[in-house]
Amino acid sequence: MADWNPAQYERFKDERSRPYFDLLDMVQPRPGLNCLDLGCGTGELTAQLHSRLGAKTTLGIDSSPAMLSKAAAHAAPGLAFAQGDIATFAPQGAVDLVFSNAALHWLPDHTKLLARIAAWLGPQGQLAVQVPANNDHASHRVAHEVAARPEFASAMQGYVRQWSVLAPEAYSTLLHGLGFTRQLVRLQVYLHVLDSANAVVEWVKGTLLTDYEKRLGPALFASYLKQYQAALRAVLGDQRPYPYAFKRVLFWAMR
Ligand SMILES: C[S@@+](CC[C@H](N)C(=O)[O-])C[C@H]1O[C@@H](n2cnc3c(N)ncnc32)[C@H](O)[C@@H]1O
Repeated sequence: MADWNPAQYERFKDERSRPYFDLLDMVQPRPGLNCLDLGCGTGELTAQLHSRLGAKTTLGIDSSPAMLSKAAAHAAPGLAFAQGDIATFAPQGAVDLVFSNAALHWLPDHTKLLARIAAWLGPQGQLAVQVPANNDHASHRVAHEVAARPEFASAMQGYVRQWSVLAPEAYSTLLHGLGFTRQLVRLQVYLHVLDSANAVVEWVKGTLLTDYEKRLGPALFASYLKQYQAALRAVLGDQRPYPYAFKRVLFWAMR
């Protein structure tokens, strides 16, 4: 089964790290925070969070051995990484901040998920989450359309990728219902000026398409990729440079 590919993911490292720092700016610093970074990836940005907040402890959790294999390079006092699935993970001690950038959209049912995460936080506990909201962009729409073609759908036994990201206002009411007294929820558009429309393929290969890659296997995924590239070009043309406008939801809340 294909794992995440850190090299592919990091091809757009600067663009991908921008929302991480925007989200970090929403956090209220306080001395001695115990932080969790869910879906920490390579850990490079987790190390930045740990040092910028002057945290007491930070634990990065990720399910991908390939991404976590890069984390050791960012070791620092109080900073640790562990392999784990957010779906079943439970922290051992007190948590003051649960942070998650570009990871929770891989999990279903955000109403239940956020209720479980919120229960880990004590008084003044903070939650900071960024999830993509770009499922209606051609980059994603076409990816799902091609995956639904019979040769791919049958190989994936009819698998249809579910989109779990809620509307910004739904997160707002959800956070209120979970007892957070302060909150900031925003939809932000990140404009990534890529060399060409074809570079969008490279972008989604590092994220969304990993889901189809692991289900299709190498040979069929190569064929999927070819068809995706052609179908996307038919929609986007050959614009150079290509302005890839990417919507994301960022939210922060405090107990
Ligand atoms: C798009 S990357 C984001 C990495 C990092 N947070 C960043 O901002 O660069 C998504 C990460 O979430 C991880 N992930 C996805 N589903 C997960 C799960 N159920 N449990 C733990 N990690 C998960 C992936 O392995 C991947 O490293």
